[in-house]
Amino acid sequence: MIKKEGAYYPANEFRKAAQFNDESVYNTAQKDPVKFWEKLARQLFWRKTWTKAFVHRPPYFQWFVGGKLNITENCLERNLPRNKDKVALIWEPELLDEKPRHLTYGELFWEVGRCANALKSLGVKKGDRVGIYLPMIPEVMISMLACARIGAIHSVVFSAFSPQALKVRLQDTRAKVLITADGYYRRGQVISLKAAADEALADTQIKKVVVVKRVGQEVAWRKGRDFWWPDLLAKAKAQCSPVAMDSEDPLFILYTSGSTGKPKGCVHTNGGYAVQSLWTGKWIFDFGDKDVFWCTADVGWVTGHTYGIYSPLLNGATSLMFEGAPDFPEPDRWCQIIEKHRVTIFYTAPTAIRMFARYEHFVKKHDLTSLRLLGSVGEPIDEAAWYWYFKNVGHEKCPIVDTWWQTETGGILITSLPGLGPFKPGFTGRPFPGVKTDILDDQGKPCPIDKKGNLVIRSPFSPGLLRNIYKNPKKYLETYWTRYGQKIYFTSDGALRDKHGLIRIIGRVDDVIKVAGHRISTGELENAVNKHPLVSECAVVGIPDKIKGEVPVIFAVSAEAPAKADLPALKQTIIDQIKKEIGPIALPKELYLVEDLPKTRSGKIMRRILKRLFTDEDLGDLSTLSNPEIVEKIKKIIVR
Ligand code: WTA
Repeated sequence: MIKKEGAYYPANEFRKAAQFNDESVYNTAQKDPVKFWEKLARQLFWRKTWTKAFVHRPPYFQWFVGGKLNITENCLERNLPRNKDKVALIWEPELLDEKPRHLTYGELFWEVGRCANALKSLGVKKGDRVGIYLPMIPEVMISMLACARIGAIHSVVFSAFSPQALKVRLQDTRAKVLITADGYYRRGQVISLKAAADEALADTQIKKVVVVKRVGQEVAWRKGRDFWWPDLLAKAKAQCSPVAMDSEDPLFILYTSGSTGKPKGCVHTNGGYAVQSLWTGKWIFDFGDKDVFWCTADVGWVTGHTYGIYSPLLNGATSLMFEGAPDFPEPDRWCQIIEKHRVTIFYTAPTAIRMFARYEHFVKKHDLTSLRLLGSVGEPIDEAAWYWYFKNVGHEKCPIVDTWWQTETGGILITSLPGLGPFKPGFTGRPFPGVKTDILDDQGKPCPIDKKGNLVIRSPFSPGLLRNIYKNPKKYLETYWTRYGQKIYFTSDGALRDKHGLIRIIGRVDDVIKVAGHRISTGELENAVNKHPLVSECAVVGIPDKIKGEVPVIFAVSAEAPAKADLPALKQTIIDQIKKEIGPIALPKELYLVEDLPKTRSGKIMRRILKRLFTDEDLGDLSTLSNPEIVEKIKKIIVR
């Protein structure tokens, strides 16, 4: 790596060998982004070429209009002539004494065909929604591709989400089929997934459930509704022709947290998403013939969708999937995996990096020299974590691509490219070629250099940007296309730009918090807590945390004044309520039972003040509050 003015650049050898090293492309792409994306799109296999590349009817837009393709034909058949025997997926189980599985492109092709026919036998047709509630096992990749093969829309729900969270999502998509597993291994425990799925199914439209056998556990069974995956697939033919999909037909719906309590179903389409997934992967992760790519994100999140599944497959690359937690049974499990499978490209979140840094002595025991490129995603990476990653994992020879994107954008939109750099701690980099971003002040004027503002994306956006919120166009309009009008996409992130045009992401400007890189809305948590019969109102705020970036803290007001001795039990039932509604990932760092919350005279809860109690920031003017005395009282009970 070459160091210049506080930033790093790739070594000459790396630069020359990289898939992308042509600086001039930024300029040509910027001049005519539509033409640029069209050129990239031609590398895919289309059943029918598009008639118009980009159509904009604010707040809606379309890409590759009139084009027809099937993304799985591009992930599978397109790779078969050259890569039939190449490994598409390496699966590492959590159990140390269990063998990994390797699926070649040829094998994956047959498995996907079989699963697609099995789904057809259950009556799944083009446009139907299929829920997928699976852990990190090969069948999750097979299921997603099988849906896409026959034009069904998959909606993956994170396996650690609670039955209630699954139910809400299944109700929203009105899925008729759910694919799940008997259970899975997590930190040495068997987690019963089928039981959780069963609990979710009442009041949904699910008619059939396909169950993967992972742990061999006894499960409750409803005849006629439940089918074992192996039985169903054994009966299915392997040959399944791909359905030619309109470029703008939906490929998947993935729920994410927004400002309000209800999760939003982001709709992603076939053509644009495929083009963006192929090329962002190729240029940002520099997939080469011999690479082994490990994206640690769970497939329940967008990172798992795009860079665990679709992007590596579209590029004919080898993707590694790990069932368990990266620090189990010991904090060096992730190092062992890199060493064992000779991983060359490693993509993870800053929270994981900060956690690994605490166990440096473990890291030093392992040979990580197979690595040539590192990535970071999901939350801002602080300089300390960046340097630790750079020195101890990349041994100062691996570029670090800090990639900014969102569930909504479908793929990475801002980063430095590994063949060009610069890699500057604290900065994600430049917009990907063909992507137009800007940083605007409150009036909508572009911010000068180094001044914080709101990050936006300008037309023609990017081909993989969401097209709608499922069955909720009003929410789509309000969330993304109102802040700066219907022609500018508002990201809800604060950012600034340095004099070289590199972008630093400051963080969310809405009520979303990133807890260990997971996106959680404070509104959703408040809803869950408010459902508790003894809670009359509550406020949730995100506060800084050394490892997880941010963590939620809850202030709850009880409807009845509970006796002191009953407080621990009450707290526990509120925690249980959160587990029930959302799942263990949303558990707060602290829950304070308070007698009141700071409010304005019009009754608005001042979360900002609660948040500031945990930082050194000035509390601001309290005289506008109707109950300023409560702030002192709360201050006395909080632990910083
Ligand atoms: C944040 C994850 C700083 C940001 C792919 C964004 C980041 C939200 C970065 C989306 C990064 C993502 N640096 N912040 N490199 N990447 N974010 O939908 O606030 O789970 O809006 O998608 O994560 O989170 P989501």
